[in-house]
Amino acid sequence: MLPDLEQNIGASPQTDHHPETVLRFNDFELITGQSNPQLAREVGKLLEHVPDEPIILFTDGEVKAKISHNLRRRHAVVIQSTSPPHVNDYIMETLIMIDAARRASADEITVVLPYFGYARQDKKDQPRVPISASLVANLLTMTGANRIVTIDIHAEQAQGYVLDPWDNIYASHAVVPVIKNDIDTSNLVVVSPDVGATKRTAKYAEALGVTNLAVVYKEREITPNSKSKALFLIGDVEGKDALITDDLLKTGGTLVDAAEMLVSKGAKRIYAAVTHGLFLEDALTDIEKSSIEKVYVTDTIAHRHEVKNNPKIQIISIAPMLAEAIQRIHTGEGLTDLFT
Ligand code: R5P
Repeated sequence: MLPDLEQNIGASPQTDHHPETVLRFNDFELITGQSNPQLAREVGKLLEHVPDEPIILFTDGEVKAKISHNLRRRHAVVIQSTSPPHVNDYIMETLIMIDAARRASADEITVVLPYFGYARQDKKDQPRVPISASLVANLLTMTGANRIVTIDIHAEQAQGYVLDPWDNIYASHAVVPVIKNDIDTSNLVVVSPDVGATKRTAKYAEALGVTNLAVVYKEREITPNSKSKALFLIGDVEGKDALITDDLLKTGGTLVDAAEMLVSKGAKRIYAAVTHGLFLEDALTDIEKSSIEKVYVTDTIAHRHEVKNNPKIQIISIAPMLAEAIQRIHTGEGLTDLFT
């Protein structure tokens, strides 16, 4: 996937339009916080850059970032998932790393959020509620980020919250080849577990070369932490294997409910592909007890041992895709095929 890095490192790709903007591939620094350093290290290996891990914790709960390398006139790439269990702390770490990079005179600051906490608070759908996803995005850019990179953000319209560029790339680029290699897709129906996710599911189906689509209609009470309930199914799954795709798994309720609905409508084998796996509350036990054979999930979030060792769960690394995206952003190449 990655072009020959050897050739890029130290090379000076000049453009006809801006001959003065000579970028060398090593003119950037990877910086990561405490949420998913393993992922940043994997990305670093592929880019032949050891990520800086500058966060220092104080006993009073404050954090500080002390960046090790000179950033003057360089590109700082901050990688951090703002994920549970310390969503708010990880947001603060991210802001502090951006602030440190800006004050260290970095030329450009890209913030890569493999998992973007608060992404689901994306609209004012009740009176007197915040749009927290917009608040977080604006905090990032107001602090100094020149570009945001996310993976399968809950609502792509979020890109409009800020004026700076926001690249949202699709985990399906990493996940689809694994699924194609793993399961027989000739009798597959790809299922959206709710109406809102239909577009993403259709893209998955297209990438898998599958033409059968189905949608579960679910309802969720508008109270915090309420579970969803699958109400009915649009589409035909009888006698078919089913792959449910979703951006996020929190309690697993949506997925397990959808799976049981599919079984009741005659589906045979049930698989799921989820980008961000939080696996909170009883998610693991509920999945174990369910008809789901396998959940494919990425490593946007650092997984606990129980998740890693669960026989029903297969973790697919998005590090190669992220490394490629960072390399292309840095050298000014297009990202089109990573988000189409
Ligand atoms: C909802 O719109 C999301 O895409 C997920 O379907 C949902 O957040 C998953 O949550 P849970 O696993 O708790 O049902």
